[in-house]
Amino acid sequence: MNRKQIIKDPQNGNKAEAFEAFDDIPANPDPSRTIGDVIAARYGRRALLKGMLGTSAATALFGASALAAARQGSAATPTAASRYAFDELASGIDETHHVARGYDADVLLRWGDPIFADAPDFDVMNQSAEAQLQQFGYNNDYVGFLPLNAEGTRGLLCVNHEYTNEEVMFPNLGRQDKAEFAGMTRELVEIEMAAHGGSVVEVARGPDGKWAVVRSGALNRRISPLTTAMVLDGPAAGHPRMQTSADPSGLEVIGTLNNCAGGMTPWGTWLMAEENFHGYFWTDRLDFDGEPDLSGQPEAAQMARYGVPGMWYAWGKYHTRLNIDKEPNEANRFGWVVEVDPMDPLSKPVKHTALGRFAHEGAETTLSKDGRLVIYMGDDARFEYLYKYVSRGAVSEDRAANAQLLSDGTLYAARFEADGTVQWLPLVHGQGPLTAENGFASQADVLIDARLAADALGATPMDRPEDATPRGDGTAYVMLTNNSRRKASQTDAANPRPESRFGHIIEIKEDGGDHAAARGQWSILVKCGDPAIAEVGAEWHPDTSQHGWFGSPDNSAMDADGRLWVATDQGSNWGRTGKSDGLYGVETGGALRGHSKLFFRCPAGAELCGPYFTPDGETLFLAVQHPGTDGTTDLKGFGRASTFEDPATRWPDFDPQMPPRPSVVVVTRQGGGKIAS
Ligand code: FEO
Ligand code: CA
Repeated sequence: MNRKQIIKDPQNGNKAEAFEAFDDIPANPDPSRTIGDVIAARYGRRALLKGMLGTSAATALFGASALAAARQGSAATPTAASRYAFDELASGIDETHHVARGYDADVLLRWGDPIFADAPDFDVMNQSAEAQLQQFGYNNDYVGFLPLNAEGTRGLLCVNHEYTNEEVMFPNLGRQDKAEFAGMTRELVEIEMAAHGGSVVEVARGPDGKWAVVRSGALNRRISPLTTAMVLDGPAAGHPRMQTSADPSGLEVIGTLNNCAGGMTPWGTWLMAEENFHGYFWTDRLDFDGEPDLSGQPEAAQMARYGVPGMWYAWGKYHTRLNIDKEPNEANRFGWVVEVDPMDPLSKPVKHTALGRFAHEGAETTLSKDGRLVIYMGDDARFEYLYKYVSRGAVSEDRAANAQLLSDGTLYAARFEADGTVQWLPLVHGQGPLTAENGFASQADVLIDARLAADALGATPMDRPEDATPRGDGTAYVMLTNNSRRKASQTDAANPRPESRFGHIIEIKEDGGDHAAARGQWSILVKCGDPAIAEVGAEWHPDTSQHGWFGSPDNSAMDADGRLWVATDQGSNWGRTGKSDGLYGVETGGALRGHSKLFFRCPAGAELCGPYFTPDGETLFLAVQHPGTDGTTDLKGFGRASTFEDPATRWPDFDPQMPPRPSVVVVTRQGGGKIAS
């Protein structure tokens, strides 16, 4: 039996790219101080009540998500001058990171750094799951920042740990044959599990302007798929399809998987998006081709649609709940958006089924004109859909009441029409084709099988929708990273390039400037890739320099001035651009619309995640994920796959005893001041 055949044709995503390459080759603040207190101290209760917990208050406090931009209202004023005031960085690739001149980019938090006062120091040669649960996890992806004081000089970093790279994590393991995972013992598997999930870490800015971790922070927390109990809520909670032998109620699940990007809500909770959850499920039953044999599985069609079981990890060998032969419903309990209250380290995270089940890239929030919560969400797989969620109620000052907003609302999938209109199609049981005759017996079925429901509605299959970043003026930017499998016969107006290697960015302008609108207008902002090669078919503003163009947009952010920032993840494809992954300022309006400019770049083999600006715009948090791993066979002077003993880079420590470590980097301006202003 050859498991590699399964791995050769994985569903999608970053881990998939890695496999493709492999096959081819100071004391805590007062915890009694609530978010409401912090808001009130800064804005005054009257202003709050007048504007509700409206965009202006939420924005400045909760930072650079869409809410931050919401306050700014409209897009760029037309001008030929760049809105990104920095000297462009030279593109390239080497063993370390680089930032534009005049800025510092300091490593703040590395895999294995202790995040509790009594946590053990990192000992990479003798790691244990117990130690890892007290240390910063692996592959930092989403970064959110929740201010703890009015000045914004103290706050909580909320960081997702998406996945693990065994071959550079563990000594004497080497690259694992993904068919058998022969070296992956239970002990190593549980270290991996402990390195997944998320971290809440207090950080503070000193008088010298430098940020540091507060190890004694009373709100510091690790979340993992090994240990953290979570609540299931919303229409699918408790449904028979959500019940398992360990949880006959269908209301509680242990852990979260493959947390990619995410979002912060206006009331200061953290949304962790479960992306490639299918990769963690296992079967002992393979057919003659080495493919999972789903015969006899009552939900075989649904499993196949979601790529379950993906068998990317050996976890199911030891944790039978991840083996679909033994626990077929467990996979229905992953693929959701998880809400965490960083202000209460004892709180149970909540998986919100109302937001649908798919490979959630992110969950960026904004407000409709009447104050309802709107969340844009990509399903990051080839030919999958863009979604948005609109809450039934409006955001209020009552933090407890806001918790209901993610339980009761409408999920929509996007259909991009050739005439430039985007229609938002509601995933509501009983409407249109979403009926029992078509396999949807209830709203629970519609949400558990959201991909199938969106198929039935005629949503538009996209080139891997990643982050979708809203701005408060009713605009959103959708990162479409690439889709090498789209044939010419499958192109459409919104996905116009066959075998799209470099991706594109779509702009949506919702009708009436209202994020809750059922319809909007779309256009392509840029087509990515090298504009100097005609066959690539790239489209940028002509003033974009050889350093400024990029491939594979992935994560994105809106700063407090309504400016779009785009981070890239080319996977092993970076050899086609000759550039490491990085962060770019992309103009969305005016005479320079479609112009891009490089601000930061990663060490070899890394992708760039985050990015997240503090509300004052003076600090930018970036997450450098899996340094030294992607596509290093193409790296000049190295030319082979990395291992623990022989990695392409030992960033950020450059210690001969230490492998590369995924790390959060903090960018500030030398001498102080707002970034790029
Ligand atoms: Fe986890 Fe779509 O990147
Ligand atoms: Ca991503």
